[in-house]
Amino acid sequence: MKPPPSFFFLALLSAPFVSAQLTCKCQPGQSCFPTAEVWTEFQSKLSTPETLIKGQRPMGAVCYPNDPLYNQNACQALNSSINGFNHVFMSSQINATNWLNFDSIVTPAGNMIGCPYFPRTQNSVCNQGRVPPYAVNVSSVQDIVESVRFASQHNLRLVVKNTGHEGIGRPFGVGALEIYTHNLKDLTVHDSFIPRGAPPGTTGVPAMTVSAGVDWNQAYNAASAADRTIVGGLSPVGTVGTAGWNMGTGHSMLSPSFGLGVDNSLEFTVVLPNASVVTVNEYLTPDLFWAIRGGGGPSFGIAVNITMKTHEPQRYTGSFFVSYCDSDQSYLSLLSTWMKYHNPLSDAGWTGIWPLGNRSLSLTFGAANIPPSPQASQLMDAFIAEAKNMTGVNVALSEYHSYNSFAEFAHDNLVDPNTIIGFNSTAVIPGFVQSATSSWLLPREVTAPENAERMARALANIKAVAVPFLVGGGVVDDVSKSTTSAANPAWRHTITDMTIQAGGPVSINTNLLRQIVHQDIAPFRAMAPPPYGGMYLNEADILEQDWQAAQWGEQYPRLLAIKREIDPQELLVVRMGVGSEGWDDEIICKMHH
Ligand SMILES: *[C@@H]1O[C@H](CO)[C@@H](O)[C@H](O)[C@H]1NC(C)=O
Ligand SMILES: *[C@@H]1O[C@H](CO)[C@@H](O)[C@H](O)[C@H]1NC(C)=O
Ligand SMILES: *[C@@H]1O[C@H](CO)[C@@H](O)[C@H](O)[C@H]1NC(C)=O
Ligand SMILES: *[C@@H]1O[C@H](CO)[C@@H](O)[C@H](O)[C@H]1NC(C)=O
Ligand SMILES: *[C@@H]1O[C@H](CO)[C@@H](O)[C@H](O)[C@H]1NC(C)=O
Ligand SMILES: *[C@@H]1O[C@H](CO)[C@@H](O)[C@H](O)[C@H]1NC(C)=O
Ligand SMILES: *[C@@H]1O[C@H](CO)[C@@H](O)[C@H](O)[C@H]1NC(C)=O
Ligand SMILES: *[C@@H]1O[C@H](CO)[C@@H](O)[C@H](O)[C@H]1NC(C)=O
Repeated sequence: MKPPPSFFFLALLSAPFVSAQLTCKCQPGQSCFPTAEVWTEFQSKLSTPETLIKGQRPMGAVCYPNDPLYNQNACQALNSSINGFNHVFMSSQINATNWLNFDSIVTPAGNMIGCPYFPRTQNSVCNQGRVPPYAVNVSSVQDIVESVRFASQHNLRLVVKNTGHEGIGRPFGVGALEIYTHNLKDLTVHDSFIPRGAPPGTTGVPAMTVSAGVDWNQAYNAASAADRTIVGGLSPVGTVGTAGWNMGTGHSMLSPSFGLGVDNSLEFTVVLPNASVVTVNEYLTPDLFWAIRGGGGPSFGIAVNITMKTHEPQRYTGSFFVSYCDSDQSYLSLLSTWMKYHNPLSDAGWTGIWPLGNRSLSLTFGAANIPPSPQASQLMDAFIAEAKNMTGVNVALSEYHSYNSFAEFAHDNLVDPNTIIGFNSTAVIPGFVQSATSSWLLPREVTAPENAERMARALANIKAVAVPFLVGGGVVDDVSKSTTSAANPAWRHTITDMTIQAGGPVSINTNLLRQIVHQDIAPFRAMAPPPYGGMYLNEADILEQDWQAAQWGEQYPRLLAIKREIDPQELLVVRMGVGSEGWDDEIICKMHH
């Protein structure tokens, strides 16, 4: 069999290395790679014969006239399902992530080698790119166990995909075996949960257990039905998965009230790199419990399910603001005024997102209770009045709205495009087929009123779209929590996570997108270099050089020590993940020093 073009590309990449200094994963086409018989034997150990997909091809293959899979009807069906670009559809594909640039190998020059969903020219070829040629469509824990065992035995590259809503391509890999957890949708609400191994007399707490494939839309609906509140992601169109979000720290509009995702997880069931299924909690496995909360998935084990605390139901007030400025000067003045209110509004109980760009600033905010505290109402009113009074600032919308729960707020403003007030995230998020992200955690001193003008200048210079998340402060702001999980300690003094995103069509150079968001974030990084500031690993900047310190600060040495103990064979390594030092960007070969 002729190895796919992507294989030649990688061989080329590794050519300068001396083989004695390299350890490599076994790739298709090499003699170490399992034969068809060996794959068939593996298949017989899985839930059903269909559980293993052999020779998986990219989603778009059916649209390429010169491809063996070409099928005009299937292509038309794909076209109408994508309908421009549909994240709900994308997130439930086994053979695509949410963005084409993560399905493709990006060459050093920034070109994609992959399979655009529709051919760009008549003679275009559908390249395998980073789409794993073998996938296990998991329906039981045993499917994960067998896959881990098999990958370990044959030294295969192993990746884990759930919804594929992820920012640097970690769910896929060249020549990899994919573990697809998306169909594990079980969900249990507990009135009183006691972690296994807890000492007698431990009081139970209300909680919810979600299987790895549950996304935030499903989890919020279940919490709502049980009349509880759960801390979860701001899931545009509902496609952020619970497992990856939590292992990557998890920020939420509810964090100032109830903590980060990691502050709310009580127990995990995971499959470890040695294929054993373990319960991870503070009593049975304290080191692993510390590491898996914030260490990033799947570096410390493949999640089967996660149990998280739930909280008392909360009524919620939304505050919405949309403004346009008619000059750079009025935009700068508005941003400066906004920054004077930023920390005080957080201290008064407001949280939310404040998207800006193109001489426009919006707020989609929320606060507990209807109405919120008098101080919260007065401060928000004061900001809106000041903005309305500014020359050259057009406040197109400013209003409050009541919600019975946070779930209702999230549904109305992030999931259902028809009920959104103000900033329309569903209009921005579908966006383009390519995506690049960067982020920086801004300590409260940086966003303080006395720095308002400096911040305003930096904000006005952003070229891509900024969607800053004001999700810190409140109970997140507690340095003593730094020792309880691996989450970046920078979170404990941060109010806003500055997030910048750029998207583009299939034709745009991927490196250009990456550079735009990297350059946009640089001034914010310079205001608070690590470990004072940091990067949110669920919104990582792929060009960040000092990724260990940026994502974990002083937690990194302990994380690395636990990683080495738990995964000596380096089976579960992801780009910019714990223990990925020395590996190439595709985690195929490791250079030893
Ligand atoms: C891609 O996945 C979809 C299901 O999500 C499936 O219908 C299709 O056949 C797959 N294509 C290939 C080429 O494997
Ligand atoms: C997809 O559908 C759109 C709108 O119906 C159509 O214009 C376009 O040609 C279709 N593309 C392919 C590759 O079928
Ligand atoms: C994966 O399995 C689920 C059932 O668990 C099934 O509905 C789905 O079609 C399968 N997907 C693929 C791509 O085989
Ligand atoms: C989590 O999954 C494991 C393995 O399937 C199962 O034994 C356990 O009961 C689940 N935990 C909860 C709390 O449902
Ligand atoms: C920028 O804003 C102007 C006026 O508000 C609008 O017409 C234009 O389409 C916007 N440009 C972009 C790139 O969003
Ligand atoms: C509106 O602007 C004027 C002149 O700049 C100022 O005197 C007045 O206090 C402002 N009102 C508010 C509500 O900020
Ligand atoms: C938000 O954007 C979506 C997608 O462009 C659109 O269908 C919807 O009507 C918009 N919602 C509102 C309330 O304007
Ligand atoms: C698997 O790894 C864990 C953690 O390192 C260890 O406690 C356990 O004994 C190992 N299990 C087996 C079967 O080797």
